[in-house]
Amino acid sequence: MSHDDMRAGRIRRAPENFLTEGQIADVTKGRRDFLRKAFLTASAAVAAPGVALAAKGEDAILNLPPWSTSLGKPVAANPYGVPSQYESNLVRRESPGLTRVGGSSVAFAPLQGLFGIITPSGLHFERHHQGWHDIDPGQHRLMINGLVKKNMVFNMDDIMRLPSVSRIHFIECGANTGMEWGNVAVPTVQYTHGMLSCSEFTGVPLRDLLEYCGADFKKGRYILAEGADGSSMTRTIPMELVESGEVIVAYGQNGEMLRPENGYPLRLVVPGVQGVSWVKWLRRIEVGDQPYAAKDEAVHYIDMMPDGQHRQYTSTQEAKSVITSPSGGQILLTKGFYNITGLAWSGKGKIKKVDISTDGGINWQPARLETPVLSKALTRFNFEWNWDGKPCILQSRATDDTGFVQPGYGQLREVRGTKSIYHNNAIQSWKVIESGEVSNVQVL
Ligand code: MTE
Repeated sequence: MSHDDMRAGRIRRAPENFLTEGQIADVTKGRRDFLRKAFLTASAAVAAPGVALAAKGEDAILNLPPWSTSLGKPVAANPYGVPSQYESNLVRRESPGLTRVGGSSVAFAPLQGLFGIITPSGLHFERHHQGWHDIDPGQHRLMINGLVKKNMVFNMDDIMRLPSVSRIHFIECGANTGMEWGNVAVPTVQYTHGMLSCSEFTGVPLRDLLEYCGADFKKGRYILAEGADGSSMTRTIPMELVESGEVIVAYGQNGEMLRPENGYPLRLVVPGVQGVSWVKWLRRIEVGDQPYAAKDEAVHYIDMMPDGQHRQYTSTQEAKSVITSPSGGQILLTKGFYNITGLAWSGKGKIKKVDISTDGGINWQPARLETPVLSKALTRFNFEWNWDGKPCILQSRATDDTGFVQPGYGQLREVRGTKSIYHNNAIQSWKVIESGEVSNVQVL
């Protein structure tokens, strides 16, 4: 790329701090002009880092700032490190009015501001059916029963002494993008796709624990996983997944213990499968000979088909991708070079390619996949783009190594209708208008 091509456009990256409940409601009604106003007001009050630098020009490099002429803070001033005060805008957020009580809600991960594929543990999305507890690991137990020779109860020490594995996997709630089945509903990628995170999990393969208890793998073709919270969260998982060695009874997340919100001290990791099966605060595994038809699989987390029937046990998250920047709510402040970046993933394996369209799906060009490209993990993609200042529609389309291609809204609705909540993996479109404002639109 030549130096001229690199004349970077400027982007207002993270508008979420300027979005009030009322403004989000305005977007859903189609009024978007507030974004520009919100930006102008906010940048007058507290200039964004890039804008501040531009305004000060050479002063900022010629005059030594206080941090170059004074003693800094000592080591361990923060025994547990926290992000810079200037990053306070990058936080999990609740979608106003989504649920009546916070104990049974979602906090969305701020995908628009993250890099690479690992979600910082403090920004991992949260989805609880009945709130979260910080459980004393000394009191936590895991029972294994059902079609096993020995019913067993493990404490945390028993589990953490066993040989462990560490693997990077994404977790996506089956309801991610669920508000968008019928029409555009939310303004930013945090709300359209933020029930998605990716971590390195550490724990013991469930297969090893079942072998230890003498599980009957012939008759016992299913397991039931149960959480210790008050939500009676139970899920059936087919034994093939456990036998593959992929299902982990995990205590570690990104090099430390799980966070309480994400299941501390023990959670199930079921790679490729929708988040609800990743039972948190895991207290019991039962081995059985048939699916259990628990409430969270018989009536919830099912697909409402166009003929009114419910499709159950569609647990695998199919190939999907999203451009995280530029994305809804951001503003391209000038013409020029932009790095289109985003995430792709598949519950069936690895991402093989991601194509980008800047003209609403007429032409497609391959994006660069960044390493590592791992099975059932997020894959980061980048694409170099020069914005000529004209209106355009940005899209990404993932293909996984089974050959599955992410569908458009038209294709998906033909099969699934518009009444579902779960398993929406349609191609996401971000519209850029001449003013540079980026908004959520749907292209059939
Ligand atoms: N496990 C228990 N025990 N209770 C819950 O409410 N929520 C499930 C699953 N495991 C839940 C649970 C749902 S619906 C999802 S999407 C994931 O946990 C969310 O995991 P996270 O909060 O770590 O992101």
